[in-house]
Amino acid sequence: MKATVYKGNKTFSVIEKEIEAPEKGEVRIKVAYSGVCGTDVHIYHGMMDKRVAMPQTIGHEMSGIIDAVGEGVEGYAVGDKVVVRPLDDRLVKASDKGFNHICEDLKFIGIDSPGSMQQYWNVPAFVLHKLKAETDLKLAALIEPLSVATHDVRRSGLVAGETAVVLGGGPIGLLVAMVAKEVGANVIVSEVNEKRIAKAQSMGLHAVNPTKVDLVEYVKEQTDNRRADVVFEVAGVQPALDIMCEVAGIRGRILMVAIHGEKKPVDLFKFFWKELSLIGARVYEKEDYEKSIDLITKNELPFEDMITDVQPLSNIQQVFENIDNNPDGMKVLMDCQQ
Ligand SMILES: NC(=O)c1ccc[n+]([C@@H]2O[C@H](COP(=O)([O-])OP(=O)(O)OC[C@H]3O[C@@H](n4cnc5c(N)ncnc54)[C@H](O)[C@@H]3O)[C@@H](O)[C@H]2O)c1
Ligand SMILES: [Zn+2]
Repeated sequence: MKATVYKGNKTFSVIEKEIEAPEKGEVRIKVAYSGVCGTDVHIYHGMMDKRVAMPQTIGHEMSGIIDAVGEGVEGYAVGDKVVVRPLDDRLVKASDKGFNHICEDLKFIGIDSPGSMQQYWNVPAFVLHKLKAETDLKLAALIEPLSVATHDVRRSGLVAGETAVVLGGGPIGLLVAMVAKEVGANVIVSEVNEKRIAKAQSMGLHAVNPTKVDLVEYVKEQTDNRRADVVFEVAGVQPALDIMCEVAGIRGRILMVAIHGEKKPVDLFKFFWKELSLIGARVYEKEDYEKSIDLITKNELPFEDMITDVQPLSNIQQVFENIDNNPDGMKVLMDCQQ
């Protein structure tokens, strides 16, 4: 079988290796597609070299078909279409209060252990979610990032008729916007990259450029001065932190989706003044996956537009080099059988 490995120093190799039988409690998946995530790009840039045991197969946004079932696995059979929720919570403790998805000793599969950018992938059965026979496997590779979005929207408590502002129209921001719109909210995406604005608009989303319009005034006009009920910070930059407290209205809820690697200034006075709430949101829980599987299987949202390229596994080096040279693309999928 073919597998890709990250070797450090912005380098991937494609290797040939033996297909392994699944161990007790595991299944072997014939991987269909594996999406490239921002985290994979961070790994490629060497930013996670202390955490990734090189040479390592990375990747966690995938879809596939069960190819072999190990001893003791129940509820799954060869031929089942599945996705993986790449959270290894085996070290969960009572002090994690049942929040396994953010437990202190959580291991992320595809970073801390081998991932999906290979032809066959052995995983413990507890990470599996079964798809429907009719679920499209290409779209199903979006279920992992979509579950970030379904988790964020669920955590926000967003309801129909409310206004949500999404700061950042990258892959995660657009998925959040789609899910928020599906809830029945009025959604405004703020994005600085004109190509990504055009992409969002082509997907039927309402997107504006905060360097060209005064975002706060714009949102006030759209909401009869009420401003946003919910703000999703999905840009990860200081200007977004500056505007999130401005664009949120009275009792607004701000969802911190972006990963800020260092401490940054935030206008805490606004939290007092408008009784704002700041809500953290990290990865997903089982129910977020089930919601995403349902959305992808129904396929009533413009998911297909999110996939801007599909490349054979053997092109992995080129794929990552291209992502570096082109910040406009959305989701690139690796075809893991090519
Ligand atoms: N909470 C989680 O579990 C989780 C999961 C996945 C990703 N993330 C984080 O979510 C964030 C978004 O992920 P992504 O893959 O979409 O990243 P991305 O970098 O592709 O998207 C960020 C977008 O923000 C835009 N932007 C930059 N400055 C802006 C500004 N001032 N106003 C509005 N938009 C601006 C960029 O042009 C870009 O399109 C990242 O920080 C990522 O690490 C969090
Ligand atoms: Zn991801």
